[in-house]
Amino acid sequence: MKYGYFDEEQKEYVITRPDTPAPWANYLGSPDYGAIISNNAGGYSFVKSGANGRILRYHFNSDDTPGRYLYIRDDASGDYWSASWQPVGKDLAVYKNECRHGTAYTKITAEYQGITSEALYYVPLNKTYEVWRLRLQNTSQTERKLSAFGYAEFTNDSNYEQDQINLQYTLFITKTYFKNNKILQTINQNELKDKEGSNGKERFFGCVGTEVTSYNGDKTAFLGSYRTYGNPIAVEKGHCDNVLNYNSNSCGALHSSFTLQPGETKEIVYILGRYNDKDSDEILKAYEDPGVTEKEIQELKDYWHGKLNNFQVNTPSSEFNSMINTWNAYQCFITFIWSRAASFIYCGQRNGYGYRDTVQDIQGIIHLDPAMAKERIRFMLSAQVDNGGGLPLVKYDHNAGNEDTPDDYSYVQATGHPAYRADDALWLFPTILKYIGESGDTGFLKEVIPYANKEEDTVYGHLKRAIRFSMERQGDHKMPAGLHADWNDCLRLGKKGESTFVAFQLYYAMSIIKDFAKDQKDSEYIEYINKVQGELFDTIQSLCWEDDRYIRGIKEDGQVIGSKKDAEASMWLNPQSWAVISGLADREQGEAALESVHRELNTPYGVRLMAPSFVDHAFPGALAILFNPSTKENGGIFSQPQGWIILAESLMGHGNRAFEYFKGSSPAMQNDHAEIRVLEPYVHGQFTESTDSPFEGRSHVHWLTGTASTVMVGCVEGILGMRPDLYGLRIAPSIPSDWKEITIKKVFRGKSLNIRVENKDGAEGGYKEMYLNGVRQEDNYIVENSLKEENEILLVM
Ligand code: GLC
Repeated sequence: MKYGYFDEEQKEYVITRPDTPAPWANYLGSPDYGAIISNNAGGYSFVKSGANGRILRYHFNSDDTPGRYLYIRDDASGDYWSASWQPVGKDLAVYKNECRHGTAYTKITAEYQGITSEALYYVPLNKTYEVWRLRLQNTSQTERKLSAFGYAEFTNDSNYEQDQINLQYTLFITKTYFKNNKILQTINQNELKDKEGSNGKERFFGCVGTEVTSYNGDKTAFLGSYRTYGNPIAVEKGHCDNVLNYNSNSCGALHSSFTLQPGETKEIVYILGRYNDKDSDEILKAYEDPGVTEKEIQELKDYWHGKLNNFQVNTPSSEFNSMINTWNAYQCFITFIWSRAASFIYCGQRNGYGYRDTVQDIQGIIHLDPAMAKERIRFMLSAQVDNGGGLPLVKYDHNAGNEDTPDDYSYVQATGHPAYRADDALWLFPTILKYIGESGDTGFLKEVIPYANKEEDTVYGHLKRAIRFSMERQGDHKMPAGLHADWNDCLRLGKKGESTFVAFQLYYAMSIIKDFAKDQKDSEYIEYINKVQGELFDTIQSLCWEDDRYIRGIKEDGQVIGSKKDAEASMWLNPQSWAVISGLADREQGEAALESVHRELNTPYGVRLMAPSFVDHAFPGALAILFNPSTKENGGIFSQPQGWIILAESLMGHGNRAFEYFKGSSPAMQNDHAEIRVLEPYVHGQFTESTDSPFEGRSHVHWLTGTASTVMVGCVEGILGMRPDLYGLRIAPSIPSDWKEITIKKVFRGKSLNIRVENKDGAEGGYKEMYLNGVRQEDNYIVENSLKEENEILLVM
């Protein structure tokens, strides 16, 4: 079943049936003001922190309520509906609805009984409040008497948990007022008295474009007892009773009534934010100018489309195009911005950035906005401890140079993270390589950045210490120790256990730092790396290769994990893809390992993380057993590694396989059987249920996942073959053999590249010749200084 389609031109996903299998969400706003909205206007908002700055309430794990509700009532008949299908939920045979999720805005239109409505939701660029613009038009032949109700359900406390749980306190601390066409809500009002500013404890919900006829500041007065958001008593009656809350739940409900002649339109702009009386009046005043909202929407589009347009591709697959050009790219920015903080699954309680997640997330936006990436890389380097390891959790108020570390009890107590993880700092290598490749900013290696706890060093020095961290923490076989965990949070090999995944990462990091060392003319270090990398190579090859696969690791007590002989979890995905990505596997091993993946792990919905799932033979430390079989790390189709297997197949020149995996796992490819996938067809989720599940193909944990960046990298670097390095760009596509031509528009180091790849002979990798501005090149590599401002590039496969 299909619920919508991609509008590539507008960069929107258009939901044509509102009864989607789950709420399909969009993100509005910025780190200063975040807002999440579903296609039925469900969702919430917060200032800065989902945990501590919550303004709008949301019922998690429930029915997508409440939300940014706009009710419309025909005052002649008493019939009423909502601008989004829910919460009133009119019969879809007579109520037409369309939702357009765009880049940082959502527009919901409806048609019912001769009235069309358009509700446009957004957070203006660089502003910390949100706008709900309602437009109504009378498309019938008769005059209509109508009422509009805007409803915003405030939290009673900015702290999400307090609002939900500590009711004996939070029910008794808020009050509402009606002033100048708005509801003003205060928290701990007496305490506020005489204090400068609102201290974050005043919120408002007001409107422009209509006189408020009646209002409620009390939730129950608006909804009525034993009623739902679908049939509020105030809407049913056609007016509010001007009841303000006192020792009860607050809300902002604004009613206005008016008449529309045939063809006439009316626009009401509702605004919600955390501002005091005076400031909110000023904000509302600015919207008296009717052109403001259009201007602001254009600004948002210019901002986001401007970023996305730095990389645009045209291939024969419209799904691939929509994901790479718009949705995967937008998701990369959203995960970059929000990390794992707030979604319909994450309630906002995470109090910092996960190290590995964040360093990975950066990778997804580097080709679109290297400067934005650089700032975050700096920040993450400043969260590296002077011993070279990463802080498992980087607090939002991270204070570089002064932080405690996992070696301090205070850090463990404050963050709940008991120890270092083996992989955290190793993610810096590919991320920094990609950044320098995309920007050409080799000078970054010399920039001095503090460590999290004490001292400082150049970026290059930071990376050396990351290598040292792994070298100083080895297991009995001289492979990097597993420490608390590696990428797989559910795999505890023991502190001295050894992880092949980390070993591959370290091997890869050594190759990268060698290139940096050459640039830094650090020959002594190159010599050292050559020696230790050679040793690591021998160790991995002798211990971890088993016929047609690499094992997953060796436990502290010597037990091999991921051996062919194992009754369960005998085949693991990541060691195979990373053996190729790291450059360690030879051609034959790479072919065999990837073939084993295809044979043993592939499903119609992507590749399983491992198989068979743990049921009876989990070892102590195999925490994946906690999950149902074929779920998450227990043999589910974990989404993030799909990007790595796409990349690995591409690096091997297997364009058909790479695209097969893209097709299997890509949300867009599931658009026409959305009832199976359930999750939004335009964003990746954390995982998809696989073969042992009665719901094979169903995906979970939308939006905030490292999948965005790894799949982006798998497609851009892998399938499309954009492989920048320190001094230029290699173009090495691995595409399906039936793609006869693709074109790519890319901004590279400030220059425009128009790339055309011709594939008349149906190759899936490799190239015959390449031309830059009409001149045949020696190979498929472009040195930066041979580029003009505008460049035509032709690569013949
Ligand atoms: C989750 C975590 C990530 C981890 C992955 C695998 O996505 O956010 O850090 O690598 O699970 O366990």
